[in-house]
Amino acid sequence: MRLFFALWPPRDAAEALHAWASEVHRSSGGRVTRPETIHLTLAFLGEIEEKRLPLLQQVTLSGKRHSLPVDAARYWKHNQIVWVGPREMPREMRRLVVSLSGFLEKNEFRQEKREFAAHITLIRKARVPNLIPELPKVAWPVDEVVLVRSRLSAKGSNYEVVQRYPLD
Ligand code: 2AM
Repeated sequence: MRLFFALWPPRDAAEALHAWASEVHRSSGGRVTRPETIHLTLAFLGEIEEKRLPLLQQVTLSGKRHSLPVDAARYWKHNQIVWVGPREMPREMRRLVVSLSGFLEKNEFRQEKREFAAHITLIRKARVPNLIPELPKVAWPVDEVVLVRSRLSAKGSNYEVVQRYPLD
């Protein structure tokens, strides 16, 4: 099972980000993320044996409810993506990431070696956009973390939430 921990936006926020990305797409080309698949990955686990799932379902996370600011828009040349995210990571989100990665390390799950960079991929296979419109004001309350199963197909990724972890 290909799994990752993520934050999922409310529908309105996803629609607004999708509309913004569709504008950027006019100059960048590429593939715009469908609204229902927009997310922020907290930890990517890769392929996990199904027997390890119950352990993941028991994770207790520290980090309280907060709100995720989406106030930065960037283009990454190395992997040709347009992404948005917080200019500065909220303290509670950092706590979540740290507690997750501590748990994963303790239980010997494979982790990304690169430093965590909070990003929401909105366009893949993009060229450098020549116009970045102003970002919409989106409300993205972070009141739960989700564990998601990803299935890759010719049409892109399909995601299924396998566990929810409500925050205090
Ligand atoms: P991306 O948007 O930058 O591609 C599901 O694939 C999620 O896990 C995506 O948000 C993806 O980030 C993220 N991810 C992090 N590390 C990854 C890796 N090594 N391979 C694939 N996806 C990864």
